[in-house]
Amino acid sequence: MFNLQQLIRENVLNLKPYSSARDEFKGQASVYLDANENPYDTGLNRYPDPHQIELKKKIASIKKVSPENILLGNGSDEPIDLLFRAFCEMGDNVVIPQPTYGMYSVSANINNVTIMDVNLTTQFDVDVEQTLKACNENTKLIFLCSPNNPSGNLLSFNRIEQILNQFNRLVIVDEAYIDFTDSEGFVPLLKHYPNLVVLQTLSKAWGLAAIRLGICFAAKEIIEVLNKIKPPYNISLLSQQVALEALSKEDQKNEWVKQLVAERAWLKAELAKINRVIEVYPSDANFLLVKIHDAANVYQKLVDRGIIVRDRSRVTQCDNCLRITVGTPTQNQILIRELSAL
Ligand SMILES: Cc1ncc(COP(=O)(O)O)c(C=O)c1O
Repeated sequence: MFNLQQLIRENVLNLKPYSSARDEFKGQASVYLDANENPYDTGLNRYPDPHQIELKKKIASIKKVSPENILLGNGSDEPIDLLFRAFCEMGDNVVIPQPTYGMYSVSANINNVTIMDVNLTTQFDVDVEQTLKACNENTKLIFLCSPNNPSGNLLSFNRIEQILNQFNRLVIVDEAYIDFTDSEGFVPLLKHYPNLVVLQTLSKAWGLAAIRLGICFAAKEIIEVLNKIKPPYNISLLSQQVALEALSKEDQKNEWVKQLVAERAWLKAELAKINRVIEVYPSDANFLLVKIHDAANVYQKLVDRGIIVRDRSRVTQCDNCLRITVGTPTQNQILIRELSAL
């Protein structure tokens, strides 16, 4: 049985969180002398809403959850770090099937938490048996990235559910690229799985990497724990405003997604025609993983021509692989032209 109380670090369980001026007085007043701000109106002289209520309401209505199921972070990287700080003591461990997004391991290392060795399958799907076998009584978190970075594929829904059913600690499903798929992802399953945490972000499909807005969805009780330890004003007013505006233009996001998914197919077909390309892996994201002869050399030659892709050759199971983000039609054509000419 999943028992959240037993999972929370004792110091976090007993923590009296910082209470900000904005927490202690809620409502409208005519004279604010409570937060040591500069009283002269610059439009930005007041601290922002520490709980980002308006923005959470907007996200909640789009994702069909309650605002209480949402924590917002300074990028998804903040909730990733908060999960370690809330639930992992030194000596605990986490399971991160490889290859995947690098920040889970970096956060584990920063927090002095052990990483258990396990790989995705050769098709980059979760190996349920091996993943569960890698867990022991000190395993607190399993990270699953779907669509996975750097491979690009969605993990199989059914396998993620098997992990959720058989692991009674937290399962984090990182859906940074979910908008590029036809899948609804795991947010609708939050009600069924008290041990599920879903991460999404405005950095990809929504085109807002610069404002750093990561979204963590989970049961209210999990969100309350993360809220206790997050920095009080972790989302700036500017980020909240820009995010609210963008979220009211879902059509624009959908249009970009449509275009990028079409370009992904074009790019995949064109890459497959290039002689030195060995394999273009199936992708549900806005990038393609490409196995290519002498990847390091190709990478350098592209750099020399002003084109930057990501060399993933040193990553587990990604020998001689480049990860290429889908660009605009013009950018993609330039890439194909230069690659063909090498
Ligand atoms: C799988 C995955 N999760 C999270 C992130 C980071 O997202 P954010 O910009 O919200 O920190 C990335 C960025 O590349 C990613 O690939």
